[in-house]
Amino acid sequence: MKQSGDSKKKSYQLVKGMKDILPSDARYFAHMNRLADQLAQIYGYGKIETPILENTELFFRGIGSATDIVEKEMFSFEDQSGDHLTLRPENTAGVVRAYIEHGMQTWPQPVKLYYSGSMFRHEKPQAGRFRQFNQIGFEVLGEADPIMDAQMILIAYKFCELNGFSCVMQVNSIGCADCRPSYEQELKDYFKRVKGRLSEISQARLAKNVLRILDSKEEQDLPLIAEAPQQIDFLCEDCKNHFIQVLEYLDELEIPYALNPNIVRGLDYYNRTAFEIWTTGEEAGRQSALGGGGRYDGLAEMLGGQPVPAVGFAIGVERFINQIKEADHKVPDTPKPEIFLAQLGPEARKKGLKLFEALLKEGIKVGENFAKTGLKAQLETADKLGVKFTLILGQKEIVDGTIMIRDMENGIQEVVDCAKVTAEIKKRLAKIAVIE
Ligand code: HAM
Repeated sequence: MKQSGDSKKKSYQLVKGMKDILPSDARYFAHMNRLADQLAQIYGYGKIETPILENTELFFRGIGSATDIVEKEMFSFEDQSGDHLTLRPENTAGVVRAYIEHGMQTWPQPVKLYYSGSMFRHEKPQAGRFRQFNQIGFEVLGEADPIMDAQMILIAYKFCELNGFSCVMQVNSIGCADCRPSYEQELKDYFKRVKGRLSEISQARLAKNVLRILDSKEEQDLPLIAEAPQQIDFLCEDCKNHFIQVLEYLDELEIPYALNPNIVRGLDYYNRTAFEIWTTGEEAGRQSALGGGGRYDGLAEMLGGQPVPAVGFAIGVERFINQIKEADHKVPDTPKPEIFLAQLGPEARKKGLKLFEALLKEGIKVGENFAKTGLKAQLETADKLGVKFTLILGQKEIVDGTIMIRDMENGIQEVVDCAKVTAEIKKRLAKIAVIE
């Protein structure tokens, strides 16, 4: 790559569509991951981490070559060895690849897995739509029973419920290889009749993937979609029974859901149950679903393995965080220090470093600002942290083997033996804990 003469002066900016996660937001991400870990533990899911890079072919075969993702949204490149690689746009294909590659079909079935990590899609950046974003996903492989579909919808729903906002699960059945072709034909015939009134995008989809017209966000398509034939009327007996059972489980669990015939999902691997998470009252839900998923019984075979019935979902972590903020739902803060250690003078700084570690070892939550040398700045930090006591270690205290304890509420300072400071602090903190 050529460098321009003034490259030294250039300041660099984020790549379009990417975001830095700063500490104020990182705690929301940590919260979401903790929630995922807790739900995974309750429902018996094990964590899987697959690489961010996969062979491009995996997504061509898995997601489908006529989908938006594969056609125009993948970050793909040829590496130094001539391998065609892609930054994963989603993780279901990667998880199924791992299932086959590690012989998980020989494990006790079903295999329940969950993940959390970055995905990459070269989409037009806009509110809630980034080119690098995070997903938390749950997948069950090796079980065809509709109870697993219901459990997936339940776990997805819990992510909303436990974050203090309401949502309505949008559910649909998109049938199977047996019953979908006749529906697709019916849909094609219908849209052909109204082709002239369809948006340009939908006219193009008519030839390639008619189901995706139902997913259109174009205003002019909406009344035509509302009148379109619905998959539900074309389901075969098995698909119909499967769907009825899923809905019965949802009724039993009292999960708020809406039957939405337009949930067809943008990836080719789905069959039967398809669902999305929309916030309550959301009209533009299709553009900003908080999460989505469904059954993908054919994917393992599409990727060269034995048939493996499977179902799963992924949530968009950034979209959830937005929602949490909008609902003003409090997420746990990082634990705050109870005391602060201030140091004055070079010798006290040195001893202070060691004392800080000793206090930590005793399980005392202690804060510091070793970068500062003046007492005023350090007390300001202590105030900001809202600690109960500040320990002040100065030159005099070093010589005397003492340390000063300042009560931050009333400003009273007391000199104590440095060797006994840990016990003294523990005593004082315990006293406060009893009062509070
Ligand atoms: P998806 O619907 O493509 O499904 O993505 C799931 C969620 O990821 C979306 O509902 C949205 O919240 C979030 N998301 C997608 N694209 C972006 C973006 N550009 N910026 C921010 N957030 C985004 C899947 O990926 C499937 N693998 C889900 C699944 C798992 N199906 C079965 N198992």
